[in-house]
Formats: sequence, C-alpha cells, structure tokens
Amino acid sequence: MIELKNLMDTEILNYFRRLPDNTITKAMTYSMSIGGKRLRPVLCLLTGELFGKSKEDLIPMALAMEMIHTYSLIHDDLPAMDNDDYRRGKLTSHKVFGEANAILAGDALLNEAFTVLLECYAVHGEPGARAALYISRCSGRNGMILGQVMDLHHETHPATFDELRLCHHKKTGALITAAVCAPAVYAGAKAEEIKLLEEYAGNLGLAFQIQDDILDVTSTREVLGKSVGKDEKSNKTTYVGLFGVDKSRDMAKEATEACLAALSKLRRDTTKLEELTKSLMERTY
Ligand code: IPE
Ligand code: IPE
Ligand code: MG
Ligand code: MG
Ligand code: MG
Repeated sequence: MIELKNLMDTEILNYFRRLPDNTITKAMTYSMSIGGKRLRPVLCLLTGELFGKSKEDLIPMALAMEMIHTYSLIHDDLPAMDNDDYRRGKLTSHKVFGEANAILAGDALLNEAFTVLLECYAVHGEPGARAALYISRCSGRNGMILGQVMDLHHETHPATFDELRLCHHKKTGALITAAVCAPAVYAGAKAEEIKLLEEYAGNLGLAFQIQDDILDVTSTREVLGKSVGKDEKSNKTTYVGLFGVDKSRDMAKEATEACLAALSKLRRDTTKLEELTKSLMERTY
C-alpha cells in the first residue's frame, strides 16, 4: 500500500505544480503537500481495482477525495472550530497564511475537487456524473458537514452513545464512504455491492475515528503530527471519554471485524482492502 501512497504524493505534487504561482495556490499546496496518510485516495484506488478500473482512470477521483479531506482539515483546525496550531507535523494553514486565506484555501480545495471530478468523469456520461454526485452528497450538509456541526454542538451538549456514533459516522465515515463507494458507482457496481461497501466503509470510519480519539490521549504531538489532549480540553464527547481507552480499543476492533465481515460477503478478491483495514488498527498516527 506504500506504493499507492507514494504514487498519490507524486500525483498531488504534479497537480499543484501546474497551477499559477499565487497566494491561493501556495496555501492550497501547503496543506496538500505537508504530509498525511492518503487513506482516502488509497481506498479509492483499491476499490476501483476491485471493479476493474485502472489506477490511471481513478487517480483524478483519488486526488479529488484528498482535496475534499484536506479542505475539511483546514476548516476543522480554524479558531472557530477546533482551534489547532499543528497539522500533519506542521503549523496549521491559518497559522501560516492567516485565517481569511485558510478559509479561502479550504473553499478553493473543495471547488477544485469538483472541477477535477466534473472534467474527468461527468462529461463522459452517467456513471461518472453519479459518482461525482455521490461524493458531493457524502461531503455536504447531510454527510461530513453534518458530522462537524454535531461535533461542535456536543462541546456544550454532551452526546449520548447513539449521538456520538452518528457524529463519528458522519464527520469521518462519510468521506471514507465516498472514497470507497464512488469508484464502485463509477464502475457500475450492483446496488447490493454498493450496500456492502457502505457497510464496510461505515464501520471503517467508526474504527478510524475511535482510533483518532484514542491517539488524542495516548500519543504525542511529535508522533501524531497534531496537538494531543485537545478533545478533553474542548469538552468533546469521545469514545475514550465515555468508555475509557481499553474498552474503546475493543470497540474499534469490533468495528474492524464488521468491516472484514462486509468485505467477505462481496465475493471479490478483497485481500488488499483487508490488509489495509487490519493495518489501521495498529496505526500510531
Ligand atoms: C484526520 O484524518 C481527521 C479524521 C477524520 C480523524 P487522517 O488521520 O486521515 O489525517 P491525515 O490525512 O493522515 O493527515
Ligand atoms: C475531524 O475530527 C473530522 C473531520 C471531518 C476533519 P477531529 O477534529 O477529531 O480530527 P483531528 O483530530 O483534528 O484530526
Ligand atoms: Mg474536529
Ligand atoms: Mg480537530
Ligand atoms: Mg481528533
């Protein structure tokens, strides 16, 4: 999987190198190129492969997913949201470029993502357009954005377990679901297959965010690349806050098992996705 991550790093650099050298390009390029695990683009390439789509065909979609994810991080770090100074081992966008330019860099990345999607897929017909629509819905008011709204609301109104699950499902699960399912939509996968992929991705998002909450209390800024201990400081309801670290680990494991169960029902060679899914349980950043 490291090859796919490296491939995406190169594609990202090449894409942003071609843009005119001005303030907004600098801010967009900064957040896109300072690091990151590239999980969503790698997922996109791997599920595409399951349905017979080549890497070359899917690179623009993978790139768009990383742009949307990076925009969500830039805005997540803003003073009005989580107010964080570090991201991907470097200062956050607003610390380097100022708050207004960070907001605009996020906006520009979101628009750039849809420009890429529409140019590369939608103009070629219906499956590509449906994939772009799928990504748009996952990113928007009933997807990632809703999760972020819930996350902030729960700083002052403690979440119940069900509310927390839904919040994680939306704020993190939605973009992971887009990365996993949009390539399948593009490839014309059957409705039952999309359903299984949604089950997989929903559980992966949950496991991933539980891990994120655990790392916030068990890791260090050097390893994680972002501040630690911030969830408690800002009164977030998290799995760790509700259940403690050990029980949260068990719950992340359960969600991972549910991921593997969904994959096994797909009747395709999901070996690489299984490996990636298991490896995320061991992640340290
Ligand atoms: C961080 O995502 C935000 C969450 C949804 C937990 P990642 O942990 O994938 O961040 P990068 O892309 O590797 O920086
Ligand atoms: C972020 O969740 C989810 C997003 C949609 C960006 P967090 O706020 O926990 O992510 P980190 O810990 O800042 O990366
Ligand atoms: Mg947040
Ligand atoms: Mg945050
Ligand atoms: Mg976090």
